[in-house]
Amino acid sequence: MQTTVWFITLVGVALLAAVFYYVISNSQTPEDYSSVQQKWYRFRHKWFYFIAIFGIVVTLATLIPFPLPSQDAAYAGEDYQVVDVSGHQWYWTMSTDTVVTGKPVAFYVTGADVNHGFGVYDENLKLVAQVQAMPGYTNKLIHIFDQPGKYRILCLEYCGLAHHAMIAELKVEAAS
Ligand code: CUA
Repeated sequence: MQTTVWFITLVGVALLAAVFYYVISNSQTPEDYSSVQQKWYRFRHKWFYFIAIFGIVVTLATLIPFPLPSQDAAYAGEDYQVVDVSGHQWYWTMSTDTVVTGKPVAFYVTGADVNHGFGVYDENLKLVAQVQAMPGYTNKLIHIFDQPGKYRILCLEYCGLAHHAMIAELKVEAAS
């Protein structure tokens, strides 16, 4: 019995070796791929331009209606409403809790102890603006409110036991 198994194994290994030998020796033979190659090179060429143009169109189409106002010098000359914000474990302090629509609001946001996330939500709890509240830094967030209402400030960064309780209210009044 053992001899039979031994023999079958040997034959199997020999067959496998033969297959390997066949594949390796044949892989040296050059094949004529030029017609296939040319066809696919032409296709690759077209594909490249298609992808490049597609990328540019998608980038423009999605960036032009970019929903966030510019965060840099664009508003330097405007008198914007300034709100100083500080995140604490576990509450927010804000220099004012009332702003008006249509005029840019500049939130200057920092953290007093650990990292917090300053998230501004509208009445349907849809996030309308957010920025990190980090100790040692003051981040500027510029937002223009279109709709009056009672907005809510929630913490967007897990900051300890009562992270979920960091809720403040921001009143947005219609500009007169
Ligand atoms: Cu503060 Cu989470």
